Amino acid sequence: MRIAAYHRYGSPDVVGVEEREEPQPGAGEMRVRVHAASVGSSDAAGRSGTPWFARLAFGLRRPKNAVLGSDFAGVIDAVGPGVTRFAVGDRVFGATGADGGAHAEAIIVSERAAIVSLPDDVAFDAAVAICDGAMTALPFLRDGGRLRPGMRVLVIGASGAVGSAAVQLAAQLGAEVTGVCGPAHVELVASLGARRVIDYTQGDPLQPGATYDVVFDAVGASRFRRARRVLADRGRYLTTVPSWAIMLQQLTSRLGRRRAVIMFTGLRSADAKRPDLEELAALAASGRFAPVLERVLPLDDVAEAHRIVDTGHKAGTVAITPVTQHQEAS
Ligand SMILES: NC(=O)c1ccc[n+]([C@@H]2O[C@H](COP(=O)([O-])OP(=O)(O)OC[C@H]3O[C@@H](n4cnc5c(N)ncnc54)[C@H](OP(=O)(O)O)[C@@H]3O)[C@@H](O)[C@H]2O)c1
Repeated sequence: MRIAAYHRYGSPDVVGVEEREEPQPGAGEMRVRVHAASVGSSDAAGRSGTPWFARLAFGLRRPKNAVLGSDFAGVIDAVGPGVTRFAVGDRVFGATGADGGAHAEAIIVSERAAIVSLPDDVAFDAAVAICDGAMTALPFLRDGGRLRPGMRVLVIGASGAVGSAAVQLAAQLGAEVTGVCGPAHVELVASLGARRVIDYTQGDPLQPGATYDVVFDAVGASRFRRARRVLADRGRYLTTVPSWAIMLQQLTSRLGRRRAVIMFTGLRSADAKRPDLEELAALAASGRFAPVLERVLPLDDVAEAHRIVDTGHKAGTVAITPVTQHQEAS
């Protein structure tokens, strides 16, 4: 089978397509033909080895695993002994976490992993965009932000994978959403359900004036110390991007009336992720949630996919398609 592999940290050019023997599922495992996989921020961190703490997960001196890719969607083509939840032919999607392996024509996953059935109405590339963005946006808004209908929420980085999902999910819940993005994405963010869009090149979204119950910084473009100026009493500041400051503020702000919250999707259990993936797939199948895709590229263009991610200006998700429908049919 073909895989996108890398053996040292570096620029997008360190990733190339190689051949590897087809893996066989063991007890409790399944082999999934990967029709789509996302290339996202964590893959870029794993590829470049930056920031430094990425190496704690991906390997201190060199990458531990040659194949990146956590989010996958595809069709099960082999199951090992003892598998009961799924069968050959099932359409599924899910996430492997830091183990990676999805940037390949096939991946072996445990049936106990964060993997669920994919409704027929949801495309493979849309499914991996759910894992890339909404799987983080949902618990941030629901658990971190305790978002309720009628609340005012500011989403910073509203056009990214996480942010574009956050805008839609918050609007869907009945929140009043203000999105922040650059000039190229203002229309997109408005179309996702934001009532107001602030172009960060034209104005400072954290200028005192408007007040929000939740400020969700999905790209790490702000600091709690500034954001608290626009937070309502009992308001919550959420960020996806770790720093020493936010780790400390998460603790100290518990004593105050405005909370700082950071969460890590990678640390959530598969049992916690599965119902969220099912809920998000149902939303997508019913048309109430539409994952945003920047580009969908063949496996051969995996380096190009990394380049787009590295710009920091993609809208939604970049996906690759290791197995195409054409290959599957032949
Ligand atoms: N804690 C967790 O569990 C967790 C989970 C997932 C992701 N993350 C982290 O979250 C971050 C975002 O991930 P992502 O994949 O959603 O990012 P992304 O898709 O790469 O975000 C790109 C978007 O951010 C926007 N943007 C860039 N600078 C901005 C600014 N100053 N203000 C507002 N918007 C800005 C860009 O809009 P324009 O092009 O219009 O500028 C672009 O559309 C990454 O650092 C990732 O590692 C953390």
